[in-house]
Amino acid sequence: MGDTGSSLGTDSIKVRPASKADLSPIAEIGANAFSGLRPKDMGLKWVSACFSAFPRMEYWVAESEDAIAGYILWNEKGGFRKDAVLELEQIAVVPNLRNRGIGRSLIFHSLAGVRERLHSRGSRIKLVEVTTGTEQQAVEFYRRSLGTDVVAKIPDYFRGDEFVLVSRKQDET
Ligand SMILES: CC(C)(COP(=O)(O)OP(=O)(O)OC[C@H]1O[C@@H](n2cnc3c(N)ncnc32)[C@H](O)[C@@H]1OP(=O)(O)O)[C@@H](O)C(=O)NCCC(=O)NCCS
Repeated sequence: MGDTGSSLGTDSIKVRPASKADLSPIAEIGANAFSGLRPKDMGLKWVSACFSAFPRMEYWVAESEDAIAGYILWNEKGGFRKDAVLELEQIAVVPNLRNRGIGRSLIFHSLAGVRERLHSRGSRIKLVEVTTGTEQQAVEFYRRSLGTDVVAKIPDYFRGDEFVLVSRKQDET
């Protein structure tokens, strides 16, 4: 799969599981990226609800010089199965730090952490899915970061049509 943080030139970035203190910065970064988190007070409420849903849902953050540079939200679907189905529900990086490999590093390191947690309960990752806009750059970003293929198109989902992307290469052992 992807590269390590250091080979991406993201040495000063630390990817770690989110703590309660990270919820406000996550809500702020999320509101900047997703209109669904913009209604007043609703962003933090939604983020807090997801955070409380651990291990059903799991936030990780990228920390840069003591500030949160981005976050990722994983979502385990259909129960805590032996063959786990994961959704990458959200990922966002602060606008002035994009295109430096932080997004890819967030995916790589957080997925390694989730994979380890699943292994410790006797599960493996069967597949990872993401829905995203149909722009080629989004499709390419996830293909490079996760090895996803486009498997379906959902018309008029959030802000328009979305592709469903799936990777079955995350836990082949
Ligand atoms: C998607 C996103 C997290 C990538 O973070 P990043 O730190 O810039 O990612 P990286 O530096 O590892 O990779 C950059 C690549 O992402 C691509 N990208 C830019 N906007 C994107 C988007 N909306 N969706 C997916 N990929 C995008 C860039 O084209 C770039 O590709 P390149 O290397 O070929 O130039 C960031 O662009 C972002 O926060 N976008 C707004 C929120 C969003 O759209 N999230 C995805 C939907 S859940």
